[in-house]
Amino acid sequence: MVLKIICKNCGGKCVKGGFDSKSNQRYKCVECGVRQFSKYTYNAYDSTKRDNVLELYKSGHPKIDIAKTLGIARDTISKIIKEHPKVKPQRKITKKNIVSSLSYNQHQVIKNILKLHVPQGFIDCDPTYSIGNFYNNSGIQQPKYKFDIMPQIKGVKKADCRELPLKDKSINCLMFDPPFVVSTVPPLNGKRRGDNKSNIIRYRFGCFKSIQELKDVYLKSMKEFYRVLNNKGVLIFKCQDTVISTEKNLFSHVQIMNDAIEIGFRAKDLFILGSKNRVLSGHVTQRHARKYHAYFWVFIKK
Ligand SMILES: C[S@@+](CC[C@H](N)C(=O)[O-])C[C@H]1O[C@@H](n2cnc3c(N)ncnc32)[C@H](O)[C@@H]1O
Repeated sequence: MVLKIICKNCGGKCVKGGFDSKSNQRYKCVECGVRQFSKYTYNAYDSTKRDNVLELYKSGHPKIDIAKTLGIARDTISKIIKEHPKVKPQRKITKKNIVSSLSYNQHQVIKNILKLHVPQGFIDCDPTYSIGNFYNNSGIQQPKYKFDIMPQIKGVKKADCRELPLKDKSINCLMFDPPFVVSTVPPLNGKRRGDNKSNIIRYRFGCFKSIQELKDVYLKSMKEFYRVLNNKGVLIFKCQDTVISTEKNLFSHVQIMNDAIEIGFRAKDLFILGSKNRVLSGHVTQRHARKYHAYFWVFIKK
């Protein structure tokens, strides 16, 4: 049987070209002149083995393990790795750098979301910017587009999150932090009612007159975000469940997820922001657990 050898360098035809010191048949390419063997006894010269070394190294395996698994000397493994300086091992997940779904620091939550789910690493648009607590002194890049229905600081444009002055499919990442309180106290009227903490929160952030209004605003806003986001764009939605008139739990985060999926988003992740502050309502009886946490949903436009 005549063995047909194809050049490993250029794919050309090879002819017999002498023997090595151990009497193995050598071949020479008629096209490029490179000398080679039909079978490599020295594993590291085999290009598939070399690729395997780099693959294993990239996925974080120590050199000693790669050497044992592939039957290649450790020095040779080091040499192959040195020849490919761009190939870097992935950082191992440790207790220190693991991304957790639970945090007590909202800047940390946002940084984790950007790290895991936003390849560009920053937010393009915040339509409920308020005074920008998410970005101030946090190391989180300010968004290019800052909107609010009631702008409070310079640089924020007046816009309703249900009708944004942005083109279709024009941004990659949007942060949404709407009011979550439902109350009959008139919202966004510019007057502080009393000075207890819950009223200060209402005054500062606004609130909805009814559950239906909250649901409508959330739904219409999400439809608008679907319009302005690129395919695979990321919507980060901060929300909070609440108790209505001490009678009924409003599990907003469930409603939001169902609506987002209906619109065409994929629920990619969910982060929980815990609060260590304990604000008391003054009620005598308690019927539901007090909510000391908020959620950050991560939705991807399908
Ligand atoms: C919870 S605050 C946002 C806080 C902000 N993330 C921060 O870190 O400072 C909610 C904001 O949404 C704004 N808002 C309420 N309804 C809105 C609407 N329909 N369109 C745009 N902004 C709205 C309020 O004026 C308020 O500033």
